[in-house]
Amino acid sequence: MPKIMLVFGTRPEAIKMCPLVLELRSRKEFETIVCVTGQHREMLDSVLSAFGVTPDIDLDIMSANQTLFDITERTLRGMKSVLEASRPDVLLVHGDTTTAFASALAAFYLNIPVGHVEAGLRTYDIRAPYPEEFNRTAIDAVSSHLFAPTEVSRETLLREGKKPDSIVVTGNTEIDALRYTVRGGYTHAELDWARGSRLVVLTAHRRESLGGTMRGIFRAILRVVDEHPDVKLVYPVHLNPAVRDAAEVLAEHPRVHLIEPLGVLDFHNFLAAAHLVLTDSGGIQESAPALGKPVIVLRDTTERPEGVAAGTLRLAGTSEDGVYRAFTELLDDGALYDKMAAAENPYGDGWASRRIAEWIAQSARS
Ligand code: UD1
Ligand code: UDP
Repeated sequence: MPKIMLVFGTRPEAIKMCPLVLELRSRKEFETIVCVTGQHREMLDSVLSAFGVTPDIDLDIMSANQTLFDITERTLRGMKSVLEASRPDVLLVHGDTTTAFASALAAFYLNIPVGHVEAGLRTYDIRAPYPEEFNRTAIDAVSSHLFAPTEVSRETLLREGKKPDSIVVTGNTEIDALRYTVRGGYTHAELDWARGSRLVVLTAHRRESLGGTMRGIFRAILRVVDEHPDVKLVYPVHLNPAVRDAAEVLAEHPRVHLIEPLGVLDFHNFLAAAHLVLTDSGGIQESAPALGKPVIVLRDTTERPEGVAAGTLRLAGTSEDGVYRAFTELLDDGALYDKMAAAENPYGDGWASRRIAEWIAQSARS
């Protein structure tokens, strides 16, 4: 029986890997092992419990203010022991975190095949997002199974010389997650507070924006909210202390609520209730469009050009002026808003996990 190991460590990886864990575990043809690094602790555990997934192995590596060296070193060493003890037929990693990179590297050193879920995303700017652009490029270099979410990502991989028969287009498992989370009749005290206003949901956490850039983005957002009395903004603040520090810029406004990170079920339902979304997140650039919500991307570049081409994502840059202009325009221009809200979601139909499982089953048979 093929032994499949999945490894992940942060909130977004967990959200996008849990639907795959559930799909693989529902099939009796695999032995499925779930390993978590614990690169995130509270934010990871919250997703695991939302999906009812109990890991088989937990490396528990997180420390306060961890550096890239800490995460890489602990994951590489930890995964060496795990992989040597278990020798899976394939190790599945997700996306572009340091957990995913260091785990793929450990598997590569031990000659264990790697499957990359969400392969082929690129900005071709090695510093943005940082260090994710390096991580995902390196993971693709050592992967024998490349699960590309879209045709665009498949073409990127082909241009880079990857073998056509190692790539399969699956859709993004972020959209699968929405099938478990979004429900009619959902209520929450914050949504009650925002009723009758235009609700803006904000998230921000990118390493390359921490400090002055992030404060500038928040100053711009504060000005726009202040100038639009019918807008209320909810920001579930990432647990990174450096993000919490920058978020102080937004703390005092009566129409801004800074709250703790939301569980994934809550967060996806907040997106469904939002008027628009401001974010530098990767995953939210996929889930918000799937829910018909225009997204202003608080970054200089994106590895998700499909959403920009479809008209659902708008890249605002990271300057105070750029963010101010993009946010103001989307609130004031009804035709622009309607066009963005009506754009088609390019990230799949919610059945990516099934396609990945089928591909693995077929590869094991051949
Ligand atoms: C990581 C990923 C990033 C991903 C993001 C999703 C890397 C290098 N970065 O960035 O690609 O977009 O996760 O959120 O892999 N913390 C807690 N509890 C938690 C989670 C985080 O206290 O549950 C705090 C810790 O102090 C930690 C800090 O947040 O040191 C930063 O976490 P870390 O995983 O290093 O980086 P992220 O910015 O979260
Ligand atoms: N998310 C969540 N709670 C929050 C904020 C975000 O569950 O308070 C979800 C969001 O829906 C998306 C994922 O977390 O599915 C994105 O994670 P994050 O922005 O931390 O990472 P990225 O996608 O940028 O790597």
